[in-house]
Amino acid sequence: MRIEFVASDRTAAPTGGAVAVMAFEGGKLSAAAEDMDKATAGAVTRAIAASNRFNGKAGQTVELVAPGGVDVQRLVIVGSGPQDSLNGEAAETFAAQAYAAVKTSGVETLSILLPGAGAELAAHAALGVVLAAYRFDKYRTTEKAEKKPSVTTVAIAVDDVAAAEAAYAPLKALGEAVYFSRDLVSEPPNVLYPAEYARRVKALESLGLEVEILGEAEMAKLGMGSLLGVGQGSRRDSQLVVIQWKGGGDSQPVAFVGKGVTFDTGGISIKPADGMEDMKWDMGGSAAVAGLMHVLAARKAKVNAVGVLGLVENMPDGNAQRPGDVVTSMSGQTIEVINTDAEGRLVLADALWYTQDRFKPKFMVDLATLTGAIIISLGNDFAGLFSNNDELADNLLAASKATGEPLWRMPVPAIYDKHIDSAIADMKNVGNGRAGGSITAALFLQRFVNGLPWAHLDIASTAWKKPSTVPTIPDGAVGFGVRLLNRMVADKYEG
Ligand code: BES
Ligand code: MN
Ligand code: ZN
Repeated sequence: MRIEFVASDRTAAPTGGAVAVMAFEGGKLSAAAEDMDKATAGAVTRAIAASNRFNGKAGQTVELVAPGGVDVQRLVIVGSGPQDSLNGEAAETFAAQAYAAVKTSGVETLSILLPGAGAELAAHAALGVVLAAYRFDKYRTTEKAEKKPSVTTVAIAVDDVAAAEAAYAPLKALGEAVYFSRDLVSEPPNVLYPAEYARRVKALESLGLEVEILGEAEMAKLGMGSLLGVGQGSRRDSQLVVIQWKGGGDSQPVAFVGKGVTFDTGGISIKPADGMEDMKWDMGGSAAVAGLMHVLAARKAKVNAVGVLGLVENMPDGNAQRPGDVVTSMSGQTIEVINTDAEGRLVLADALWYTQDRFKPKFMVDLATLTGAIIISLGNDFAGLFSNNDELADNLLAASKATGEPLWRMPVPAIYDKHIDSAIADMKNVGNGRAGGSITAALFLQRFVNGLPWAHLDIASTAWKKPSTVPTIPDGAVGFGVRLLNRMVADKYEG
């Protein structure tokens, strides 16, 4: 799809295709909606009045087909909420909704009219369309033409084309990074296994990133018995991918660590068959980290950043790890593996320890589809945030608010730490029963951060939407975390 910015001409409506304009809460028209109302001899006002319940709330739309007075196929009026809270995220939602209204209607061009809105909002509108238009259709061979999106060009009409293009450059990079992340998450597990995943990340070197791939022999030398134990039942070799972006001179790096279980059967503690196919996206945390590194490089962020991906496949076979096994992690701490399905924390234990040991970062943020319990705690609209550091947690929460990737802070209480003590090793990989399952998982990770400022995002609730209720997220892979982390780095750790 082509996205272009064009100069607003408030004296003449666009010709052909579909046109989208905003209305605000209370039914107030935007400047562009006023223009279209005049050009159509009041059809916009009449349509809103006749629709009875349209009052400009975000999410509402009114659509006119072939309105008189202008030469357009469709005119879409999109409710965009209160005018004074129109920010980047609201502009993204508006544009995503406009796109959704016409995407398979047969029109090829969508003109989004934003005179007077400013370059920043126009750029966010473009990102909103891009995010909404994501499709993973490479394995479909028989889809009928009329089911496929018809829109090929989105023209965003603005006062200052050059300013909008400049504002869009970093957001274009962000959209591409979210696509990269969504593609990884969407790929089936027979295609995307650890080595193939590592190869795709290696290709990001063309953006200026440095990518190292550690295989099983190298990890064994480092003593990563915890990560390697998870992958030992798989025919596919485990991989540790280390990505570096050096845009920050000699400053201390920031570090991001991701769980990349390319498929999680549960191992010998095998999962039920029903829904097991979802576990292809058990690598969503690492995909967010890869997407973040992608955007930091593409927009040449002024920061030193490290991304570490722990890539394994959790399979049961004759060589698989058993419940009851004891493994020694790179940190030297020993772990009794009570449940082979609590594998993500075993992967992250070594990935976190390696990251702090090698890079001595300012902080570490890990992302992981770690526990089903976080879905029970927070539902599907929030990821859990766990942290030992209020400043880091607040920075994440602020970026979460600004980007619309919701987080909710959860406790990391010392009184529960003993729940993961083991009778025969330094710790066990599950708590006592299911109580506080996401918290005991976070407490486990905390034992591998060596006291560094650290935050853990449990994104098991948000990595995949089935179905999605968010206009900028199509059903399926979300790419959750890319926008949020990019925003936090941009606002707090650059320059
Ligand atoms: N990958 C799962 C967590 C998960 C569950 C993600 C549902 C997305 C949707 C993780 O590896 C897992 O199996 N966790 C166990 C932990 C338990 C054995 C302590 C869980 O949540 O049941
Ligand atoms: Mn598991
Ligand atoms: Zn898992």
